[in-house]
Formats: sequence, structure tokens, C-alpha cells
Amino acid sequence: MYGVCGRVACCLFFYNGRLTGHVDIQYNRGMKTSTDSKAALTNSLNQVLADSYALMSLTHLAHWNVEGPGFFSLHTAFETQYEELFTAIDEIAERVRALNAYAIGGLSTLAHTAQMKEFAAPIAQQDYVKRLIAANDKLLTDAGEARDLAIRADDAESQDLMIRRIALHQKTAWMLNSFLKG
Ligand SMILES: [Fe+2]
Repeated sequence: MYGVCGRVACCLFFYNGRLTGHVDIQYNRGMKTSTDSKAALTNSLNQVLADSYALMSLTHLAHWNVEGPGFFSLHTAFETQYEELFTAIDEIAERVRALNAYAIGGLSTLAHTAQMKEFAAPIAQQDYVKRLIAANDKLLTDAGEARDLAIRADDAESQDLMIRRIALHQKTAWMLNSFLKG
């Protein structure tokens, strides 16, 4: 059975004459998603938002405190990375808002949500790079989940955003791993 009420449609599922379940579907400016899959997606996007904020903070920490023979290249590379993250964070948060959910914020909330393994300075130059590779990998895992949820929610725009974030962090991980070789 299928009914429409305003902007919300409801699919009812029957088996042997008994109601066995239902799914609400919201129509929002051409976007069709179930409420459950949309909530899962916005939660997942907020996870990527928190991860990105945490990674930005750790990259900034490394930028300030790195020392040694690779100082100039790493200091500059870390600056490029945290500046890119600052822009990306805003785009992710505004995507959450475009989906009529709310973006999370505040340092303690972001840190608690991210659950990113932190480090304190000073550590060896190579260790900053290794810790940031691990942080990028964590973000990649969460962004992959958000991308898959966007596919399930039939949300091409969120999928596109997550694909761009994944490609960026794969590139960052490649660059950081390349620094460790040799
Ligand atoms: Fe700086």
C-alpha cells in the first residue's frame, strides 16, 4: 500500500493480511529519502565533520612543532593540509544543514565524536607524519561509510561530496607515506 500526505509519503508492507512494517519517505526539493536513511546519513556526515576538525587541529599542531631536516617541506605541507580542511569543514557542515539536520560543533563535542587518537609535541619528525597518516585513515573509513549511506539514501550530492573528500584524503595519505620512504 502506498499513500501520500503533503510532503510525506508512507509505504505500508503487508504479509498475509497483517501490517508488517512501514517506511516514511520525504519529498524535499526533488530529493527522495526515507527518514531513517536520512538520519543515518546526517549522523555520518557529522562524524566526518568531527573527524575533519580533529585532523585539522592535529595537522596544525604538527605544523607548529615539527623540527629537523624536513622542516621546511613538512611545515609548508601541513599548512596546505589544514587550510584545505578548514574550507572542507564548512562545506560538510552546510551539507548537513541542506539536509535539514543540524551540524555539531564545540571543541569537546567534536573531540568526543571524532575519537581521534591524539598526540602531544614534541615527537620525532617521522612520528608526526605517521600519526597524521593514521588520522587520515580513520577519516577515510568514516567518509566511506558516509558515501555508502548517501548512495542508499539516493543523495547524489552528499555522495559527490564524500567522494571528493575521500579522494583528497587518499592523496594526502599517499603524500605522507611517500615522505616516509627512502
Ligand atoms: Fe603557520
